[in-house]
Amino acid sequence: MAAAMLEGEEVFRKIFRLYRRSPEPAGTVHFQPGEKAVRCAQLAVGALSDQDAGRVGLQPLEQWKAYHLEGYPGFLFINNPFLPGWQPRWVRQCLKLYPCKPNVCNLDLHMSSEQTANLWSISEKQLRKKMTQKRREKTLLEKLRWVTLGFHYNWDTKKYYKEKFTPFPADLAELSRCVALACGFSNFKAEAAILNYYHMDSSLGIHKDEAELDHHSPLLSFSFGQSSIFLLGGQSREVAPTAMMMNSGDIMVMSGASRLLYHAVPRILRHPGGGILPPGLSDPICGEDPYIKGLTEPCSPQDWEVCAAYLQDSRINMTVRQVLEEGGSFPKDKSDQNDHMTTGDSYHNEEILEPELQIKRPKTSQMPQDE
Ligand code: SIN
Repeated sequence: MAAAMLEGEEVFRKIFRLYRRSPEPAGTVHFQPGEKAVRCAQLAVGALSDQDAGRVGLQPLEQWKAYHLEGYPGFLFINNPFLPGWQPRWVRQCLKLYPCKPNVCNLDLHMSSEQTANLWSISEKQLRKKMTQKRREKTLLEKLRWVTLGFHYNWDTKKYYKEKFTPFPADLAELSRCVALACGFSNFKAEAAILNYYHMDSSLGIHKDEAELDHHSPLLSFSFGQSSIFLLGGQSREVAPTAMMMNSGDIMVMSGASRLLYHAVPRILRHPGGGILPPGLSDPICGEDPYIKGLTEPCSPQDWEVCAAYLQDSRINMTVRQVLEEGGSFPKDKSDQNDHMTTGDSYHNEEILEPELQIKRPKTSQMPQDE
């Protein structure tokens, strides 16, 4: 489905509002065989060994279901390729491990590093009570909106800086390497990630990811928990976006001509199929394959209790990027280096919020925003 030009200003913005309001969004692409504009994609079979895939919780490559979308060359959608029991491990990493220091999160702006040092341990007791207590204060974990890893994205200058780097998690780097390899990118190096944490009333504004110095490498996007509508547009906001459904475990790859397209998440939806949690998350505790040692530990029943409580009305998305070209470096000019913590308020969705919501929330941004 080629993105068509429509009359009027900011077509993307109008469609964003439409999807933000609509309880049953019509015209949303579901990635499955036979769907209009969706074509099965051939992956780089043989490039990724079953052993390497299994170590990060991915099924053997021949079992993956991947799709192209007509009109969006370089865009790939992979239907949940995770092995049973592995989505919970990645969710646990996103909630328990990745928000820890030295990684950076939105709460650092308002709180000391001691206070934000371990959001999990401060929040877990309260979250366990979530199922039974309707009225209670939000935990810090529920106030988390974004975490940055590796080269830490500066939300104000919209840049990365050589000096603002902390080690990228080895397990997520390997998961990303495997997915990139499967999609034909043999030298992908995960150097930065933005983790977005959404609740049922959250959205993510219209933007494109162009801060990376290397645009030849793909952008990888992993989603867990409740579902969402993802809008993929064109090179300008005047191009009408295509709406697609993203469910737990799904992976999107934006590369080539689709690497720098405008996109947004107007709406979080309950996953299809009833039940509190999506199928891939309802059977969390699976035994290790005795022949393949996973890179991350299985999620314990105690940890899962906390993750499950969190996910019953939340979605987590990780976008992983390569920042520098192979052998490349940052430009010398440091004149705009900004040492201050930034909020993400410029990155997200100020301009697409309804006027009444802007009144309630004068500062909004590219990080997920709640109504
Ligand atoms: C998503 O949450 O699916 C998209 C995140 C992003 O575009 O940064």
